[in-house]
Amino acid sequence: MKDIEIAASSWTTPERVVTNDQLSQIMDTSDEWITERTGIKQRHLSTDENTSDLAVKVAQDLLTKADTQAEDLDLIIVATMSPDNMTPSTAAMVQGKIGAQKAVAFDLSAACSGFSFAFSVARDMMVANSWQKALVIGSEVLSKLIDWHDRSTAVLFGDGAGGVLLQASSEHHFLASDLRVFGESGDKLIAGHTAPQADYVNNSRQMTAFQMAGRDVYRFATHEVPNSLKRAADKASINLEQINHFLLHQANSRIITQVAKRLKQPLEKFPINIDEVGNTSAASEPILLAQCIEKDIVKQGDIIALSGFGGGLTTGTVIIKY
Ligand code: ACO
Repeated sequence: MKDIEIAASSWTTPERVVTNDQLSQIMDTSDEWITERTGIKQRHLSTDENTSDLAVKVAQDLLTKADTQAEDLDLIIVATMSPDNMTPSTAAMVQGKIGAQKAVAFDLSAACSGFSFAFSVARDMMVANSWQKALVIGSEVLSKLIDWHDRSTAVLFGDGAGGVLLQASSEHHFLASDLRVFGESGDKLIAGHTAPQADYVNNSRQMTAFQMAGRDVYRFATHEVPNSLKRAADKASINLEQINHFLLHQANSRIITQVAKRLKQPLEKFPINIDEVGNTSAASEPILLAQCIEKDIVKQGDIIALSGFGGGLTTGTVIIKY
């Protein structure tokens, strides 16, 4: 075994669609503001499905598409910042629900860079252990973490899941990865903070909602994502022109336009679906990837760069030959 390849891809979103106009009825915002500042027109918000439910849907579809039995899986990684529980992990729940008895399963927490991190870790574990098959899934129900009175964050996020089934390959598909963490800037984006309880008897067990220094994260993304893409391309010994598709985390269409400009690459190489799904954090890249494969935008042999950025702060890029 030399490397891994993508055998199948899949995505799902909850049925309920919430438009910008609907949000403007419950908070002081407008379709015009949200569209102009972010490119988002609508998002899908879960009613009763939790993060593991969306991940299981994707996992089952991946097994069907790749004609694979759950018992044959060696590894399941779920990238998420909105797990059902602190324990068991979402990946362990998926493992149990689909019956993948021999698969090692764990969650990976790197916010919106989570899928790139998980893809890279899965590839390394598969090659090191000569494993044959793995699921790498990004799944989020971010609506659980939103303060619906805070218009500065509530309009940005959506729920969904996407993923790939990786299998061993004798050909070279994984060209490079570049994973970075900027822990000193972690306070720029926080969600789900839990505090120690001085009064252990009347423990209130509360978790905080999203808090984000939007402008700082914007500046971070427009500078560090191009850097990450350039480093990854260097490691892969290719130039940016050879990359057919830049599948960027969908946080803001203006960030994507800026990154394209800084890299001097045509915007047509940067597919966008943020208008339909909003920012789905770790699910963002795999949803976009699966949709691009479905629409035949990404074709066999194409070189694609998956690049995420967000909480941590983090950036993560993987370059693969599809
Ligand atoms: N509707 C109407 N007005 C609003 C809204 C809203 N939903 N939200 C904020 N405003 C107002 C503000 O109050 C402010 O008003 P003021 O000028 O009177 O003070 C004005 O709009 C401008 O606010 P800013 O926050 O400065 O707006 P900005 O142009 O920076 O856009 C945004 C905000 C969209 C959040 C942008 O900063 C951004 O995209 N940042 C990056 C976010 C990101 O990439 N996150 C990725 C990581 S996510 C993760 O890891 C989970």
